[in-house]
Amino acid sequence: MIRVGLIGAGFVGPAHVEALRRLGYVEVLALAESDARRAREKADQMGIPEACGDYRRLLANPRVTVVHNATPNRMHFEINLHALRAGKHVVSEKPLAVTSDEARRLVEEARATGLVNAVNFNYRGYPLVRQMRAMIARGDIGQVRLVHGSYLQDWMTYATDYSWRVLPEQGGPSRALADIGSHWCDLAQWVTGQRISRVMGRLATVVPIRFRPVEREVEAFAAAEGPREAVEVRTEDYASVLIDLDGGATGSFVVSQVSPGRKNRLWIEVDGSEGSLAWDQDYPDELWYGQRGRPNQVLPRDPALLDVESLVGSYLPAGHPEGWSDALRNLFAEIYGFIRAGKSPLHDMPTYPTFYDGLVQITLVEAILESHRLQQWVDVPQLPAPQPAAAMAMARR
Ligand SMILES: NC(=O)c1ccc[n+]([C@@H]2O[C@H](COP(=O)([O-])OP(=O)(O)OC[C@H]3O[C@@H](n4cnc5c(N)ncnc54)[C@H](O)[C@@H]3O)[C@@H](O)[C@H]2O)c1
Repeated sequence: MIRVGLIGAGFVGPAHVEALRRLGYVEVLALAESDARRAREKADQMGIPEACGDYRRLLANPRVTVVHNATPNRMHFEINLHALRAGKHVVSEKPLAVTSDEARRLVEEARATGLVNAVNFNYRGYPLVRQMRAMIARGDIGQVRLVHGSYLQDWMTYATDYSWRVLPEQGGPSRALADIGSHWCDLAQWVTGQRISRVMGRLATVVPIRFRPVEREVEAFAAAEGPREAVEVRTEDYASVLIDLDGGATGSFVVSQVSPGRKNRLWIEVDGSEGSLAWDQDYPDELWYGQRGRPNQVLPRDPALLDVESLVGSYLPAGHPEGWSDALRNLFAEIYGFIRAGKSPLHDMPTYPTFYDGLVQITLVEAILESHRLQQWVDVPQLPAPQPAAAMAMARR
């Protein structure tokens, strides 16, 4: 059994627990929350044996070998750093940290320890997203020319909608971009194998004043009651961004948390010289394959029809829908497969998103914020990817 400690059990923490339990060889042993009472209450709800109100106690537990960090963004750097220093493998929620300086320090610390370090870009876990990547890599759509799409939500539409994400001191300087734009950009780069190299962003805060519940913090996507106070909003509700990629493609994306009716719609399309592929999280079991001289096709998530790479994590037969929780489980299966095999990111190339990928996304978001401020195109600093020893040996051969 691999034993896990979870830190933070609001919206996404419990989803981690469910996904981990489905792996079969992982026990969620301990939970740390913001105080001891909440920790015990949440631990009892989820059947987690140990609970504490201080994450440092969890990190001191020698039976815990992997830590999942599902706290608000402002806590990510400190907890990830201490977890690595305590000798734990770390699976961090995104964003990896609040600034690229912090994220760079985490990448360096992870490298110094040799521990497994992962960031939960869970949309990579969808079988048809993997299929899209495999088809693009095989050249099925020819040369990639355009990458475009959007990630739209509606849970911040009203002035009474509130989350700690609104405040820069809690969520960081960016909201919609860091929160959901980072998922879209990670997918765009991962499926195409190209890096976003230049950006031109336009951000907007369309709800400038929000009404925060004064009595207690609201969990993400949860309703709140009781008295409220007005707070000025200093993070973006919306962004539209033009992008250039280093392999010659160009494109654009829109992110919004104020689009009524759009609950969690991540949509991405890649247009090549021979065909197009599009995937929409509202219909995750379908991949659209557009062609010029033939009728378009829709590929269902049918294990019998998918490439081997996409099969990793597609278990149910066609017609038995798989979704967000399954994709999360699939990504964890990949991370824990690596841990279970005793691999080290210093020697073996991780197949899951690492702290380095987290740093790449924060750097990108910072470039978009800068572009909005200057009202001009900004080059995205390109960061050399870590090369494990095995990959270097392959390259030398
Ligand atoms: N990958 C995804 O799809 C996805 C989805 C949702 C959220 N997230 C990320 O997960 C993180 C958490 O988001 P959420 O929506 O679950 O937020 P949330 O507010 O619902 O939950 C956060 C939890 O952390 C706890 N917490 C706060 N400070 C703590 C501390 N010092 N020690 C221990 N626990 C503490 C809070 O009590 C709360 O239970 C965010 O960084 C967010 O970006 C990722």
